[in-house]
Amino acid sequence: MTETTTQDTDRSETAGASSDSQTRSQPGAGTESTPETWTDYEFEGEPKMAVSGLDVYYGDDQALDDISIEIPEKSVTALIGPSGCGKSTFLRCLNRMNDRIRGANVDGTVTFEGKNIYQEALDLVELRKRVGMVFQAPNPFPKSIRDNVAYGPRKHGKVRTDFLAKLTGRDDSEREDEIVERSLKQAALWDEVKDRLDDNALGLSGGQQQRLCIARCLAVDPEVILMDEPASALDPIATAKIEDLIEDLAEDYTVVIVTHNMQQAARISDQTAVFLTGGELVEYGDTDQVFEDPQSQRVEDYITGKFG
Ligand SMILES: Nc1ncnc2c1ncn2[C@@H]1O[C@H](COP(=O)(O)OP(=O)(O)OP(=O)(O)O)[C@@H](O)[C@H]1O
Ligand SMILES: [Mg+2]
Repeated sequence: MTETTTQDTDRSETAGASSDSQTRSQPGAGTESTPETWTDYEFEGEPKMAVSGLDVYYGDDQALDDISIEIPEKSVTALIGPSGCGKSTFLRCLNRMNDRIRGANVDGTVTFEGKNIYQEALDLVELRKRVGMVFQAPNPFPKSIRDNVAYGPRKHGKVRTDFLAKLTGRDDSEREDEIVERSLKQAALWDEVKDRLDDNALGLSGGQQQRLCIARCLAVDPEVILMDEPASALDPIATAKIEDLIEDLAEDYTVVIVTHNMQQAARISDQTAVFLTGGELVEYGDTDQVFEDPQSQRVEDYITGKFG
């Protein structure tokens, strides 16, 4: 991230400082107030990212309402909730992908290692390198497997393999090969593709394409990986591979994952945030606690399938 105009955000401001309990009426459970304690998740260490008082509007429609949440590093944070409750919108706020959506208006604070990512003159390319994203539908480029993985490192000038580089003896092909191999291994895809790196990525299966997209994200050494329903288009075997991979990744990376699959959230995440209709964060805590002993009646109703 560019440091030139960086101003440290006062952590005390970002620490779960949302407004007083609010009362709203929601489908599925009548009226329930949401005390701050339901979303105050205590964990050791500094948050990797912290969100405070986040509101998002699309035109006049509010998609997120006063969200405050802290995301611990090197762990899996699951975001669950019914369709339209703002999970994807929230995820996109974490690396400013909403900037690309016309009419989207973001208000509030999002910090990455204590620095406000919504400050002016922030280097967005650098932000999205450090906070990478994997989408619901695998979206490899129509290029070779190698070119897909090497795309980021080339773009960021980490490796040069072009004609001019070769001509001037500055060719980084070996370094690039190392990055490609390391990233594909991390994404548990290497063994399946090592003999066909120059084949078109679109010839891979859906599950392989999604792991390739994860490899492409890892190739630029991100610190946070945002995943929006990364396994929803995959069969159970491919899904299990992605789930295993996510658990492994959390040893080194901070993973934030949106999922519609409650079992998946329960299996792979350390903490879970439940969003409900109206763009409200209703409960956030240790995954076991949220699933086994939710504090909110609406969350219990949602988890047990009464609505959503
Ligand atoms: N680009 C957009 N323009 C206008 N409104 C949008 C846009 N994207 C999302 N919305 C609206 O914002 C609200 C939240 O949408 P979002 O996609 O974040 O929900 P979600 O929880 O990810 O839903 P799903 O589970 O179906 O993916 C919805 O009412 C949606 O219609
Ligand atoms: Mg979504």
